[in-house]
Parts: sequence; structure tokens; C-alpha cells
Amino acid sequence: MSKNFIVAIANSTLNAAEGHSSNSADVNRLRPYVERALTLTGWDLDRIAPTRIGPGLPWNYERRARELLAQAQSVLDLGTGGGELFAELCAGYHGRAIASEPWAVNAPIAKRRLSRREVDVVRAHSLRLPFHSGAFDLVLDRHEELDPNEVHRVLRRGGSLLTQQIGENEWNELRPFFPRMQDFGPLLDRYVSGLQQTRMTVAVAKARDFRSAYRGLGELVYLLCISPWTIPDFDPLGKDLAALLHMEDRLAAREGLILTESRFIIEARKTT
Ligand SMILES: C[S@@+](CC[C@H](N)C(=O)[O-])C[C@H]1O[C@@H](n2cnc3c(N)ncnc32)[C@H](O)[C@@H]1O
Repeated sequence: MSKNFIVAIANSTLNAAEGHSSNSADVNRLRPYVERALTLTGWDLDRIAPTRIGPGLPWNYERRARELLAQAQSVLDLGTGGGELFAELCAGYHGRAIASEPWAVNAPIAKRRLSRREVDVVRAHSLRLPFHSGAFDLVLDRHEELDPNEVHRVLRRGGSLLTQQIGENEWNELRPFFPRMQDFGPLLDRYVSGLQQTRMTVAVAKARDFRSAYRGLGELVYLLCISPWTIPDFDPLGKDLAALLHMEDRLAAREGLILTESRFIIEARKTT
């Protein structure tokens, strides 16, 4: 056996060992975020929220929701999560308030939190609503799927929908590393034309993309784990680790990992 061959084997073993140890170091670094995501209940992401770079959204969903609530005698919050935001919005509200929540984990959490505000919580799929037609003056929906026909049906004439949604450019920078990342397409256009087909009047339809810095890969992995619809079969400690590290390598900046966030808002009224 030539000396060169032995050196080559030694080097490749060393590289493999280094690769292996850096892999297990990365697994150890990311594992706490994955484990924490497994225990998520509710939908309070304040502690993990990224830092927005540049100006914020040119609208304020919470403020507009409060204004609409002040004129509504009955309200439905679709996909309330743990009811965190709806509990705040309902403080001092004297009308009839109901929240729906599809996820079995969150429905009881929302129930507990919102019962203190005398808000009923119904475990229900957001696209098939178990409510009478014309039951609500107002439907609120932050970041939960909706069916324009169902929203139209449960609103009484004169009632309103206010929804803020994640737009199609959300985390676009991840796509080259995760080609299977879900693409929900032009949701704003789909919702607007769906609402218009029900003959609702769309008063506001705006979209805005902005950039945010995520503290590090762990925080992003956590967010990807708690939104399993983003990258189907996401496996951060196994088959997706290499792509994650490659992405971190390419996107890391002084401020953290800089990604596009995308939002849109729709306000519509049932006029006929
Ligand atoms: C993005 S959350 C928004 C919650 C709330 N509207 C808010 O703005 O704080 C949308 C929905 O996803 C649900 N959800 C979260 N993790 C889920 C999971 N692993 N499987 C199914 N639904 C999940 C939440 O319970 C919630 O109803």
C-alpha cells in the first residue's frame, strides 16, 4: 500500500469524523428548539418574534378589529389559537363573542382563557363553520385559513370580515434550499375574488412585504416546527439538517438570519 494512499484514507476518515462531529454539534444545538416546539400550546410567539428591519405594516389589524368590535353585537374569531389576541380584543366587549379553533391541542387552551371573558369556544374546522347563517355582525381572522362562501354565509347583512393573512412571499429565501416548501399561491387575489363572487364589497385589500432578522437558526427551526404546513415532513435533525446549515451559511448576517415576511389585510362587507 502506498504512503499516499494511507494519507488519503487518513484524511478522508478525519474529514468524515469532523463532518460527523460538526453534524452532531449542530444536532445538539438545534435539538432544544425542536423539543420546545413539540410542547407548544397556544399561539404566543412574542418571545421568539424576529426584529423587523425598516418600517412596519401600513395598517394595524388590532386597532381596526377594536373599531369594528365597538359597532358589532356579535363576533366570531376564526382559528383563535390559544385565544391570546381575542381575549385582549374582547376586554370590555359586551356583545356575544364566539371563537372557533380547529386544533385539538389549542381548543381547550382557548376555552380556558376565553371563558374568563365569557367567550364560547367551539372546536371546528375553519372551512366548515358549525354556525347558523347570518349569525354574526363581525368575523375576525388573523392568520387562519377561511372560505369566502362560509364567511359570507355566517355574516348577517351589513356585517363585516376583517382578516390579516400571511402573503405569498413569506420566507421566499428558504425556497431554493427547500423546493418542497408549500406555495399557497396568490391567496390575496383568491380571497378577494371569492368574496366578490359572494357579492361582498371589498373595502380594503392591501399587501406588504418587509424584512426581519431572526436571531439564529434555532429560532427559525422552532417556527418551522410549529407551522408544519410550511415544509411538509420537515425533519430538522435528520434529512433536512444539511439544507438548513447550507441556508444558514448563505443567509446569516450581522443582525441574524434575514428573511422576507409577507402580510395582507382584507376588510369586506356583506351588503346584500
Ligand atoms: C397561525 S395560528 C393563528 C392563531 C390566532 N388567530 C392568532 O393570530 O394569534 C392559526 C391556527 O393554526 C393552528 N395550529 C397551530 N399549530 C398547529 C398544528 N400543529 N396543527 C394544526 N393546527 C395548528 C392554531 O391553533 C390556529 O388555529
